[in-house]
Amino acid sequence: MSQQDRNITFAYWVPNVSGGLVVSNIEQRTDWSYDYNVRLAQTAEQNGFDYALTQIRFTAGYNAENQHESVSFSHGILAKTERLKVIAAILPGPWKPALAAKQLATIDHLTNGRIAINVVSGWFRGEFDAIGEEWPEHDQRYARSEEFICSLKGVWTQDNYSFDGKYYQFKDYTLSPKPLQKPHIEIFQGGSSRAARDMASRVSDWYFTNGNTPEELKKQIEDIREKAKANDHQVKIGVNAFIIARDTEKEAQAVLQEIIDKANTEAVHAFGDATREAGAATAEGEGNWAKSTFADLVQYNDGFRTNLIGTPLQIAERIVELKNVGVDLILSGFLHFIEEVEYFGEKVLPLVRELEAQQQRVPAKSA
Ligand SMILES: Cc1cc2nc3c(=O)[nH]c(=O)nc-3n(C[C@H](O)[C@H](O)[C@H](O)COP(=O)(O)O)c2cc1C
Repeated sequence: MSQQDRNITFAYWVPNVSGGLVVSNIEQRTDWSYDYNVRLAQTAEQNGFDYALTQIRFTAGYNAENQHESVSFSHGILAKTERLKVIAAILPGPWKPALAAKQLATIDHLTNGRIAINVVSGWFRGEFDAIGEEWPEHDQRYARSEEFICSLKGVWTQDNYSFDGKYYQFKDYTLSPKPLQKPHIEIFQGGSSRAARDMASRVSDWYFTNGNTPEELKKQIEDIREKAKANDHQVKIGVNAFIIARDTEKEAQAVLQEIIDKANTEAVHAFGDATREAGAATAEGEGNWAKSTFADLVQYNDGFRTNLIGTPLQIAERIVELKNVGVDLILSGFLHFIEEVEYFGEKVLPLVRELEAQQQRVPAKSA
């Protein structure tokens, strides 16, 4: 099935970290508690969302004072939902692949095959220092993540698995039981630097990137897909977007302006300083946040840049435009999560599906 024939997939950020997804003092009717998150997950799965993504943070010097752990929180959400898949963030360093493989295989059995993972390579040095973890330089962090992913896949799919890497080793190891999902639990990754793209083109099932314009995303996607093809590998693309859907464009733009006007300036700067250890620190100077402005940084992953801000129709049209440049999944954030996920499901999603159906009918007519 071609990408055009597949409907675009929707995911949302689990607010398992306090302060929501914008570094702003604007009122947010979003909460990081378990109860709120269970209600949100149930609302999301009834409103067309297929995935939820938890975040991993051990500490934060820039808002986000409280952070629930990603794997246990993902399991907690899975226990109270029926269909949703939850993607748990995993950070090589604190996590070792042997434990991760076993822990996730068990969760896969407990949840009827609904866990997935997002391998994040680390950008926040202060956090690593605080918990006594070594801080390899940028591209070495990706080299380690790639070994991490290869060993997870090996352990999940093979008996008597051996691996002799720089960071990880396995010797004749057989994990039992293996995960329910075949060939293995889905593996996402986050990051947009040269090293991140190259890793995606070799080993990951999904590549997550920060918010961006369709033109910029198109360049990234073509680059990754071309390399993936040369490696005989397939990778799907997810992009972050902070969605502000309102009945009128004026209302939506006013909300965006208020979020930025009420930004927690000190926290935004602290966050911006921390992000310099990401792609900006590489020789190419490419990657997440490498070109972010102050306003971009008010949303943690440049989600305003994707411009899903406006009326339901404007947003639906832009989502289809993103699909047309090769995006497979929209990873969404909202100001007031539960109520806006409902609004999205009622007002935006049906328009997206209608536009997709129209597009899919076109080649049939001309054939
Ligand atoms: C969708 C998405 C989710 C991410 N989630 C986390 C996370 O939970 N914890 C974390 O430490 N980093 C997270 N990251 C950060 C990335 O793993 C990576 O360290 C960062 O984007 C810098 O990558 P780059 O230098 O390759 O651009 C996430 C990134 C993206 C795009």
